[in-house]
Amino acid sequence: MDEILIADDDAAIRTVITHALTRAGYRVRAASNASTLWSWVENGFGDLVISDVVMPDESGFDLLPRIKKRRPELPVIIMSAQNTVLTAITAAEKGAYEYLAKPFDLNELVAISQRAIQSSKTGAKKTNNMASQNDDLPLIGRSRAMQDIYRIIARLTQIDLTAMITGESGTGKELVARVLHDFGKRKNRPFVAVNMAAIPKDLIESELFGYEKGAFTGANSRNSGRFEQAEGGTLFLDEIGDMPMSAQTRLLRVLQEGEFNMVGGVKPIKTNIRIVAATHQDLTQLIRLGQFREDLYYRLNVVPINLPPLRARKDDIADLVNHFLVQAEKQGLGNKIFNAGALSKLRELDWPGNIRQLENLVKRVVALYPQDEVTEDIIEAEIAHEQPIHEPRGDASALSLDKSTRMWLENCFDSQEILENDDLYRQFLAEIEPSLLRYVLEQTAGNQIRASKILGLNRNTLRKKLKEYDIEIIKVSV
Ligand SMILES: Nc1ncnc2c1ncn2[C@@H]1O[C@H](COP(=O)(O)OP(=O)(O)OP(=O)(O)O)[C@@H](O)[C@H]1O
Ligand SMILES: [Mg+2]
Repeated sequence: MDEILIADDDAAIRTVITHALTRAGYRVRAASNASTLWSWVENGFGDLVISDVVMPDESGFDLLPRIKKRRPELPVIIMSAQNTVLTAITAAEKGAYEYLAKPFDLNELVAISQRAIQSSKTGAKKTNNMASQNDDLPLIGRSRAMQDIYRIIARLTQIDLTAMITGESGTGKELVARVLHDFGKRKNRPFVAVNMAAIPKDLIESELFGYEKGAFTGANSRNSGRFEQAEGGTLFLDEIGDMPMSAQTRLLRVLQEGEFNMVGGVKPIKTNIRIVAATHQDLTQLIRLGQFREDLYYRLNVVPINLPPLRARKDDIADLVNHFLVQAEKQGLGNKIFNAGALSKLRELDWPGNIRQLENLVKRVVALYPQDEVTEDIIEAEIAHEQPIHEPRGDASALSLDKSTRMWLENCFDSQEILENDDLYRQFLAEIEPSLLRYVLEQTAGNQIRASKILGLNRNTLRKKLKEYDIEIIKVSV
């Protein structure tokens, strides 16, 4: 018979939990403090621990790492009345199997207990699979670099301040915005995301604020904007650096006065929304260039959240890989593990496309390879066309663009072959353009909007060229 150890200083809670678990067929030992629980653990009792956080002699959070160290295979469920994302995150960070917010449903407790005991038995064999620990976390990663972020997020779920999320492409800006909403006070209200880079500039104002009938040619009826749709909830303004000046002015007014006018509207509309903005650009730079309003910047940047690039949190790679493997499994893509060699190969990379790039790689490997165990060789083959590993950047002086151009031309004139077509100019471009496009797309993790921006090319032009050169964009949608 499996045995469950319980610790809670509240006698009533001990009684109801003991009763429920006994009825479910478990033997139960219940303690009112941490030291009794610890003596049981030390003496090898129990197949599962269910512990409160606040206890008279020691916090469950302090005890947890000791339990994990002494008996790593023993699952621990943490219960707490302090129902914050921070408690949840702390519990997971310290290795709890599951976190239960009080008050909870006893049936749920029994079901989770059964699962915990079950998976600790099978889990002993499957050491690589940490899914059970990570599965319910909204954000994966326990690296130092993420700890400050978690602390800020936890506070921001309790208070309704405007937040500005910055970070390179693919670092999780949108995900963090969602977590702020999903764990915050407005979670039962809408979350509306608008990407400034994805909407034509001249449509942004009517998209955000809506328009009245007759506001402009073609405005045949009143149309609500994103502000109205997000009422009571969160409006996520993605790529805020791409917001045109006129829209910035309107947004500033919303933040200052809590009201806005629709395009073509005369009556101000009161609004109650939380704004979360994000950008991969340096806004202070845009302010210097006169492209972003400084007053708006300060209004938005009330709580800055700067997400670290993946290369600064390589300790999280294993957890992230496991997380994406579990996701892939749920999507029916197959059940695989990455062995130690594969994981250490992943740590050698720089990940310019950050977590999105890692996610795409994991899902691609799961989909393309039949083997259950992903090895270093597979990773090497997959990244070969993605990016060089620690390849020294080409020394510009050793092989300048001018030099290599001349070499290429010399070859043409030597062989005469290319010259016969009478289109050297076109052929020359066809020679260098694809590498340019490929490189920029790699850097933007396949994001064509960003690539076209960096290149200074119209998006349609970029698309046409990609087609013309048959450049494949690898972008796994999730
Ligand atoms: N900490 C994390 N744990 C699990 N998944 C993550 C984490 N961070 C990011 N992801 C995943 O990585 C992908 C990219 O994240 P997201 O779209 O939020 O990045 P972003 O910073 O908004 O990127 P971009 O600047 O390109 O818009 C998403 O699929 C997201 O779910
Ligand atoms: Mg994004």
